[in-house]
Amino acid sequence: MLEAHTAAESTPYPQLDAAFQARMAADPHRPTYHFLPEGNWMNDPNGLIQWKGRYHLFYQYNPNGPFHGTIHWGHAVSSDLVDWTHLPMALAPTPNSADQDGCYSGCAVDNNGVATFIYTGVRGTDQLACSATSTDDMLINWQKHQNNPIIKARPAGLDLVAYRDHSVWQENGTWYQVIGAGIKGVGGTALLYRSSDLVNWDYLHPVLIGDRSATNPVWTGEMWECPDLFPLEDIHILLMSVWNERRLHYTAYVAGDFAAYRFNPQQHGIVDPGGSFYAPQTMLDDQGRRLMWGWLRENRSVEVQKAAGWSGCMSLPRVLSILSDGRLGQEPVPELRRLRRKHDTAANVELPAAPATPLDHIRGDTLEIVAAFAPGDAAELGIAVRCSPNGDEETRIVYDRAAQRLVIDRTHASLSPDGATDMFFAPLVLAQGETLQLQVFLDRSIVEVFANGHCITARIYPSRSDSVGVKLFAHGGHATLLHLDVWQLAPIEYGMQTVT
Ligand code: FRU
Repeated sequence: MLEAHTAAESTPYPQLDAAFQARMAADPHRPTYHFLPEGNWMNDPNGLIQWKGRYHLFYQYNPNGPFHGTIHWGHAVSSDLVDWTHLPMALAPTPNSADQDGCYSGCAVDNNGVATFIYTGVRGTDQLACSATSTDDMLINWQKHQNNPIIKARPAGLDLVAYRDHSVWQENGTWYQVIGAGIKGVGGTALLYRSSDLVNWDYLHPVLIGDRSATNPVWTGEMWECPDLFPLEDIHILLMSVWNERRLHYTAYVAGDFAAYRFNPQQHGIVDPGGSFYAPQTMLDDQGRRLMWGWLRENRSVEVQKAAGWSGCMSLPRVLSILSDGRLGQEPVPELRRLRRKHDTAANVELPAAPATPLDHIRGDTLEIVAAFAPGDAAELGIAVRCSPNGDEETRIVYDRAAQRLVIDRTHASLSPDGATDMFFAPLVLAQGETLQLQVFLDRSIVEVFANGHCITARIYPSRSDSVGVKLFAHGGHATLLHLDVWQLAPIEYGMQTVT
């Protein structure tokens, strides 16, 4: 728990009172160990930085309700990536200024001991780069730059669909940033700038331009939100969140060379194709790990989100790597093991071709399941979670061997008419004799699945309180469960910054 700090923005908004908190605590869909604010709307992670040894997580936040609007920067801090202390909002729109209509996404860098945000200020239809700085140990107080917006206009000569969001880094004393954009009629892009002081920026060129009409290898639409460009092992990664005709799709990535400040992709993929994960941001920590969080969007109607009083949460923090096939690898941070409580285990269970094998002693909606399977000759195998006793609700996590893909099947996830029923697919090629390694995090309405280095996260809203069963299954042949560990996971603890 951290000590109290003062700040101008510390008055809690009225709706987050004790009655509201009791309602949040009783909501069966509200996650317990994924980070989220006390209520209202959140979207993208922003300004991720380790400062004085602590991890700071800023995020897009609307203090006025569970819908996108009046965007501020929420703020939380953690010493261990597990428990978080809510701090006062870091940025609020300033009337009659470049961010009067919203403080949109951006990042944080350490400029010789001065923490600096580069973010997008919204004023009417203008969305332009702004800056704010802090020298506090706890990054509570932020001073906006007097000349905001620090980049006064979009680059001349480019006909852009949109222009926002920032990824900033330093190389040999020079600052660089990419800004997300899209070139009309062409495709998404990330525009490169250079600066000696983080304030005066020169536009250079696009680091990469997508083709909005190409669906192969990965469709990347007409505009890229939240680009993030960083080195990983001996190559570079560019993340881009695909925005097309005002709709958010998924986050794609390219992996390859970044030579002469132009990106030369060698691999393409979707970071997490589960219909929820979007607008991730990464940071390098003092252990040299490249950590990533993404926004987990709701998959239910705006009306239901408004009635719930909250919308959106963060993914688990993930460590990135390059897999042996050159794809982007993701693992949950090992710190999360601290949440493990009651433990159950099983080993060497033969899974005949149907029906499913229930694990009678294992039940829950806040579980971590780690399972290794030998796929044998089964066509499909996997785990069903959130199963009701009579089978009318269940969510299936399936390895489809013929199609070489991992599937989250929500066809029967919920009896509620509001629950989405579509399926999600992630390519997953297992070599001959390779085991299927599943690590599943269930957190009420979240199913976050890691499988052999890949990740797919879906949102589900089961309607029955007894939909807490777990089953194993194989179809079209036999498979073997080699071993299984299941833990009940404790909720994370939120410290509250007290107002002094
Ligand atoms: C991505 C995004 C960003 C923008 C922010 C606004 O989800 O649309 O492009 O900066 O959210 O909240």
